[in-house]
Amino acid sequence: MKVQVQQLEKAIPFIQECYTELGKSQAQIDTRVAEITQAIHYKGTYEHTVEELVHGAKMAWRNSNRCIGRLFWESLRVHDARHIETEEAAADALFRHIEEATNGGKIRPVITIFPPSRAGKSVVQIKNEQLIRYAGYETEHGIVGDSVSVAFTKACQALGWQGAGTHFDVLPLMLQVGERAPRLFEIPRALIMEVAIRHPELPAFAELNLQWYAVPMVANMYLEIGGVMYPAAPFNGWYMGTEIGARNFADEARYDMLPRVASIMGLDTRRESTLWRDKALVELNVAVLHSYGQQGVAIVDHHTAAKQFNRFEDKEEKSERDVTGDWTWLIPPMSPATTHIFHQHYTNEVKLPNFFYHSRKY
Ligand code: ARG
Repeated sequence: MKVQVQQLEKAIPFIQECYTELGKSQAQIDTRVAEITQAIHYKGTYEHTVEELVHGAKMAWRNSNRCIGRLFWESLRVHDARHIETEEAAADALFRHIEEATNGGKIRPVITIFPPSRAGKSVVQIKNEQLIRYAGYETEHGIVGDSVSVAFTKACQALGWQGAGTHFDVLPLMLQVGERAPRLFEIPRALIMEVAIRHPELPAFAELNLQWYAVPMVANMYLEIGGVMYPAAPFNGWYMGTEIGARNFADEARYDMLPRVASIMGLDTRRESTLWRDKALVELNVAVLHSYGQQGVAIVDHHTAAKQFNRFEDKEEKSERDVTGDWTWLIPPMSPATTHIFHQHYTNEVKLPNFFYHSRKY
């Protein structure tokens, strides 16, 4: 009963906001609210119309305080996968997501929305953090691959998966339906687009043998719209270069490449005050942006992304909506003070609809 009251309390403001933005009348809002009230009363929950699902997902992106790419929220392609009930069908829908999002490098923002949870129970669950991610293995010579994936890689191995053991083995999808045992699905090679990292002026970069996947597809968050929870709702945009060049490759706890980049650049690493880390970081990021660009894969640099975010702020102001944001995430991890975001204040209030992290699932 309490859950149902809570759902109705979230459904009403959602319908009001969503329908107003879609240009519907007060009469249409009233009719729909009455219908939802009835449904929750008699069936314990309500179902979104396709229109509500589509616009609700876009609003969730618009409300994502940590995302610098929100200017493009209206362009999100929403796939309604609420009818999917088997692991095979879920894997197929995810393969289609990867294909449509990748689009030969002209990346399109896509979300695929699987069935909502019922009485707190999920129908389809995706255990991966991202649809495409590299495995991480603990070896006697340290970690091979992406250390962020060590626990998940072990979970895959426990289910019989065996990776090749390179630094860039794409993990399988791990899908669970209801209470059944999780199952693994290898992503067809042809669907996985990757970029080899080369530097426009420093050929020695090739010796680092770095590569990264084209599309970041976040799978470990649930989507909440109007009091309805969608536990499996993977979404993607395109990369901002620093995500790869200043974090995935640079963090000591990830690929830790700055010492090696410094070495191929011949930098003096004996003293911090030479700023060798900063020099290496800049060239590594130049290489990432150059390589994606040259290999026809969409990517945005952090200066352009900040300018786009500025346009988003202007647009929202014109629509009389407050822009909320998480400053600690919005500032880029390199040269943050060169962007306007650094010099501004953001309120980190959480508006709904929105995306939230699942608690760890493996
Ligand atoms: N930072 C994550 C990564 O490096 C991706 C998060 C989503 N990023 C995005 N541009 N939509 O893989």
